[in-house]
Amino acid sequence: MRSPLLSLLVLLSSPLLQLLSASKPLASFCSGTDKFTPNSRFKNNLSQLMFLLATKAPKIGFEIASVGSNHRKINGLALCRGDITSESCNSCINEANYQLESQCNYKKDAVIWFDNCLVRYSHKEFFGEIDTDHSVIIRDERNVTNPAAFNARVMKMMNRLVMKAYISPLLFSKAQMELGKSKRLFGLVQCTKDLSGGDCKRCLQKAIDLIPSGKRGARVLGGSCNARYELFQFYDES
Ligand SMILES: *[C@@H]1O[C@H](CO)[C@@H](O)[C@H](O)[C@H]1NC(C)=O
Ligand SMILES: *[C@@H]1O[C@H](CO)[C@@H](O)[C@H](O)[C@H]1NC(C)=O
Repeated sequence: MRSPLLSLLVLLSSPLLQLLSASKPLASFCSGTDKFTPNSRFKNNLSQLMFLLATKAPKIGFEIASVGSNHRKINGLALCRGDITSESCNSCINEANYQLESQCNYKKDAVIWFDNCLVRYSHKEFFGEIDTDHSVIIRDERNVTNPAAFNARVMKMMNRLVMKAYISPLLFSKAQMELGKSKRLFGLVQCTKDLSGGDCKRCLQKAIDLIPSGKRGARVLGGSCNARYELFQFYDES
């Protein structure tokens, strides 16, 4: 077993990086040592799986699918951010497929995160289980001036979002909160829809525990849920 700590990455983000195109992956994991060859039947099945996900997920922003049989099965999952259009969802999954090929160098297990979607596949069964193997923290390095008070507000908002998300049909919630005169705090949490409501809550509670303290913004990305807050609006209003 790999230690979850070993797979915990901490990435830094600057406002400039956040302006980069939405098609740039935030992070990816290509775990395990199992590989396939470019023209293999595994690759063929993987392409089929990605096609299924890209075709079916945009309807509700989520899909799971499997291709192959028995021990040769590949399981895949795609989750799009709860507020984006089905067109953006589709293009994000296609981009994920493309990037996984180049970044993951033909590994048999992989996860990739973008602003707009998460795509994961593995030859192991993982549907319906909270993923504890993959976790990435991305933070804005800039400090807030009053960390204790700021953190309290952030945690208050994030906890409220968790309580809303786990009972909502999409396992998703977003909100904004006034921070004094002219500042606003924006937050979003989401789980993959193969989780039960209870597991979604547990997953998100663990995620928000990893939120770094005193930073202007941060996100915690996992294979089953993610959480983000910023001092600017980073999601679509609708
Ligand atoms: C690919 O999928 C087919 C069935 O769709 C299965 O019979 C085969 O074993 C799979 N091959 C690999 C290498 O996963
Ligand atoms: C934020 O604070 C930490 C220590 O509290 C310091 O090491 C770091 O350099 C600060 N970051 C910026 C961007 O000022």
